[in-house]
Amino acid sequence: MTSTTDRQDGKANVLKTDVAIIGGGPSGLLLAWRLTLDGISSVIIERQSVEHVQGRIRAGVLEQGTVDVLTRAGLGQRLETEGLRHGGFALALDGRVCRIALDALTGRHVTVYGQTEVTRDLMAAHFDARTKMHHDVSDVELHGLETETPHVTFAKDGELWRIDADFIAGCDGFRGPSRLAIPADQRDEFQRDYPFGWLGILADVPPCREELIYASSEHGFALASMRSPTRSRYYIQCRADEPLEEWPDNRLWDELKRRLGSDVAATITPGPAIEKSVAPLRSFVCETMRYGRLFLAGDAAHIVPPTGAKGLNLAVGDVHYLATALSAYYRRGTELGLDRYAEAALRRIWKTERFSWMMTALLHDFADEDAFAKRMRAAELNYIFSSHAAQASIAENYVGLPFEDVLA
Ligand code: APR
Ligand code: PHB
Repeated sequence: MTSTTDRQDGKANVLKTDVAIIGGGPSGLLLAWRLTLDGISSVIIERQSVEHVQGRIRAGVLEQGTVDVLTRAGLGQRLETEGLRHGGFALALDGRVCRIALDALTGRHVTVYGQTEVTRDLMAAHFDARTKMHHDVSDVELHGLETETPHVTFAKDGELWRIDADFIAGCDGFRGPSRLAIPADQRDEFQRDYPFGWLGILADVPPCREELIYASSEHGFALASMRSPTRSRYYIQCRADEPLEEWPDNRLWDELKRRLGSDVAATITPGPAIEKSVAPLRSFVCETMRYGRLFLAGDAAHIVPPTGAKGLNLAVGDVHYLATALSAYYRRGTELGLDRYAEAALRRIWKTERFSWMMTALLHDFADEDAFAKRMRAAELNYIFSSHAAQASIAENYVGLPFEDVLA
């Protein structure tokens, strides 16, 4: 482990570490934590404040593989006691409901535990371990990626900083600088923007059902989800630029009831919103995820629409592969895992992109959809409702595809 030492070098403060991590969201925090456990030093730099990072509301369904990775990293304590184990979820079409029995179909389950809580658990572990984290940084730039001595520069409180590292991990989300540091002719980007968004509401009311419901209705898509037995999370499909002020709580609850159907509506407890927001839906993949000594992980390399709750799970998969590869490099001097990282991660990412895209296409109303396309969607849902094989395929993807061994 290279010790992390600070020194002055001309005008910049210089930090030396094994891995410089750009972005302190779930990907950056988990990578730093896995490296710490293996005696590899890292420094995280994050554009936002600690409060901002810990307050962000995101999805809340963890695959079993994600829970295993977090638990093996010693982060499973609160997850174990507060996480809700779900052995199934429902698909609904105009009020008719079909349960996808995850446990019976796959022998696996998912755990409902908010990304906000995962982030808090990671931050708590880092605070205890006194990990070097710099929040509220700006002007982050990556240098020397093709060399064995890459470095990152940034500014904080009016001072210039430089991190000298063996590797740089780009964990800085869709809008961060890392992906753009790969020359344009060395990366291919694939993107689909959907002609709608999701309007989400978080409220301290009991969930309407014990399991999640993804509903397609003549009025558009709706999702009934939760965070705990006393906190509910609901979404409706809306315009990508839907003005929030046009959705007072009462209107949103009425719309949810209309879309989820009368049986479910009867069990909905409305209450004041503690958070309400609109998010656009997008699919995106960057090929490659490696350039020289730079490795991308999480939203920096790919985005999925939330139908299927794969965003955080994919990020955890990337970080698992990357941490495994870096550990093998520092412990055994092998670059095998690093050389395999991008291809292995992308194989899993594309399959998960397909599932998220399929679920999105299946359940949402598309403005340009003609009568035939609408019938095809209904027929596909009806087929799923009646087919064990179709349900098994959805269940297999929903609980999460297996990890490869990047070192094998
Ligand atoms: N410098 C430093 N940090 C930056 C910069 C920058 N220029 N740009 C962005 N960041 C930070 C963001 O502020 C954010 O905290 O990088 C972090 C990236 O975090 P996320 O966007 O949460 O991405 P990731 O950690 O890969 O987590 C993936 O989070 O966004 C969800 O749906 C996504 O659930 C998935 C998970
Ligand atoms: C959520 O609870 O926020 C959630 C659940 C399932 C999804 C997306 C979001 O597919």
